[in-house]
Amino acid sequence: MASSSSNRQGSISSVQTENRTFSPSDEFSKKAHIPSAKKLESIRKKAAKNPVEFWEKQAESLEWFRRWNIAFKWKHPVAEWFGGGKINISYNCLDRHLNTWRRNKAALIWEGEPDGEIRTFTYSQLHHEVCKCAGVLRSLGVKKSDVVAIYMGMVPEAVIAMLACARIGATHNVVFGGFSAEALRERINDSKAVMLITQDGAFRRGTAVNLKQAADAALEHCPSIKHSLVLRRTGGEVTMKAGRDHWWHDLMRGATSNIAAEPLGSEHPHFILYTSGSTGKPKGILHTTGGYLAHVAYTTKTVFDIKDDDLYFCTADIGWVTGHSYIVYGPLANGASVLMYEGAPNFPEPDRFWDIIERHKVTIFYTAPTAIRAFIRWGDGYPLKHDLSSLRLIGTVGEPINPEAWMWYRTMIGKNKCPIVDTWWQTETGGIMIAPVPGATDTKPGSATFALPGILADVVRKDGTSCEPNEGGLLVVKHPWPGMARTIFGDKERYKETYWSNFPPTKEHQGWYFTGDGARKDTDGYFWIMGRVDDVVNVSGHRLGTAEVESALVSHPYVAEAAVVAKPDELKGNALVAFVTLKANITAGDLNKLKEELRNHVGVEIGHIAKPDEIRFTEGLPKTRSGKIMRRLLREIVAGGVISGDTTTLEDFSVLEKLRGDEE
Ligand code: WTA
Repeated sequence: MASSSSNRQGSISSVQTENRTFSPSDEFSKKAHIPSAKKLESIRKKAAKNPVEFWEKQAESLEWFRRWNIAFKWKHPVAEWFGGGKINISYNCLDRHLNTWRRNKAALIWEGEPDGEIRTFTYSQLHHEVCKCAGVLRSLGVKKSDVVAIYMGMVPEAVIAMLACARIGATHNVVFGGFSAEALRERINDSKAVMLITQDGAFRRGTAVNLKQAADAALEHCPSIKHSLVLRRTGGEVTMKAGRDHWWHDLMRGATSNIAAEPLGSEHPHFILYTSGSTGKPKGILHTTGGYLAHVAYTTKTVFDIKDDDLYFCTADIGWVTGHSYIVYGPLANGASVLMYEGAPNFPEPDRFWDIIERHKVTIFYTAPTAIRAFIRWGDGYPLKHDLSSLRLIGTVGEPINPEAWMWYRTMIGKNKCPIVDTWWQTETGGIMIAPVPGATDTKPGSATFALPGILADVVRKDGTSCEPNEGGLLVVKHPWPGMARTIFGDKERYKETYWSNFPPTKEHQGWYFTGDGARKDTDGYFWIMGRVDDVVNVSGHRLGTAEVESALVSHPYVAEAAVVAKPDELKGNALVAFVTLKANITAGDLNKLKEELRNHVGVEIGHIAKPDEIRFTEGLPKTRSGKIMRRLLREIVAGGVISGDTTTLEDFSVLEKLRGDEE
């Protein structure tokens, strides 16, 4: 974090004000799991007094083979939840529903990209496939605690493979299918995976991406891998290495389905998931079993208000934590029906999601701000062409959402009737931490509202004192929670250093988790996430969250997307440089005039201190494969054009080249 010349140690100036609030309709609240602010408040109060007792109660809604004897044990920074308990996640997501009417309910409805092929798995069918896959893993020598890498597209078999690992206590390491061979190799080797599950190719935006070829290249230097299982999806040419590679369909055909779910210790390693991080080597975030499931099951029920007649569609990729927690584990633990779509939102046309919602009658839709900005850019015509009236709740995750994008989402997609749940959380937190509870919380556009019951989040200064209302500071969590990461795989020092060293234990507390995000709470106590602290800049003694300036720019009718970074400036300490993309149908005319107009617009929205010093128009912004703008690269561009950091997660290299070329 940059040093501050502002008067309070570690505080960040906030300049955004938002006065609109939206209450859930009576109709929504009446039917909701948590039907009122009053009820939520009483749950929250009780949970804050005794978070462990609260989480024990949530864990009781799962099926345990043996109940825990120590609910929570803490030796900074190592947590144990539900110690002594025995549980299995696959059992809780599948077997448990087979003794109920849900056995013939759709667990997974999958739609393929190229021709709209639809495959539906009831709970009973999904259970059968998972058991067989678990049998295949066993037959290939995979044992409890072995790591299995999964490098697949958005196909049902990816879900089946994950649940099969969980069934026998293998730890999965899902690597996003858009990663390169190099990134896959690094993640396999770091996790010492013994097996790889992949597919010939994956359909994306009308073409087949060859995954097997990348896997082959990776496996040339992966000594720990003994076998690989290959799903045929595109039918493309692949080379199968004898002895190592096996076709999914061959082995599944003869597999036994008689594989009971293994009772696992509550702290058994459930999965490793690598996060890109802003610098250096990716971190293998490790999550365990009982606490993780209790957290994701509870938050799915509470935040998505999920019910048996819902059809829930989350657009995240299975390769990211959102895909893990809120496509697979949270929803299935609740016995929900999940819609999973294989491909791109703009194939064959930019209305594919709306088309899916209309045809399948989706009731809950969960996506990311980056997607919402793309929808805005593509134009209102696409959602307007479709009947979206089945929707009752919509959500977002992944980045701060600009208030104007939030308003668009509310009116265009939610038709002013669906509550929006803006959910703040991280790969490291395992599940949702700060979010509205839709039947109970009044929302404000751009705010993730409040910490959920059992989550003790706060905004503090560097010295650990709590910030005043509207004073920006560091977002911390003051009590461990069950879904939290347990370590960085193979590097517990880095885990401690990254997350637990800023606020170590004192006489008053047992150590706080530092999120890496800046935030503020307004006078009503609402949390406003200001972005990563390395996206916070100091301009003329004011620390500004660049996300706020971006929101102001995006609220201009011509602007589709904006990224704001700092450039060293003699006078101000930092100057703000804004990279701006315009909406598709805009012909801007005199660009210099437009620049001035945008600067003034920011001045009007949030005050002159936030006016970007420089505005650069661009056709695209550099993004990670999960859609986050890589501001770090933009910072390097404005600082002199040399890109020195890690670019392995960059989605489209040509964007970078263009940005460099455009420099004045
Ligand atoms: C950001 C994704 C604002 C934040 C689940 C966090 C958000 C990082 C929100 C984690 C939100 C996520 N509002 N910012 N609703 N959700 N973030 O690990 O900076 O991919 O630290 O997990 O995304 O990203 P990750």
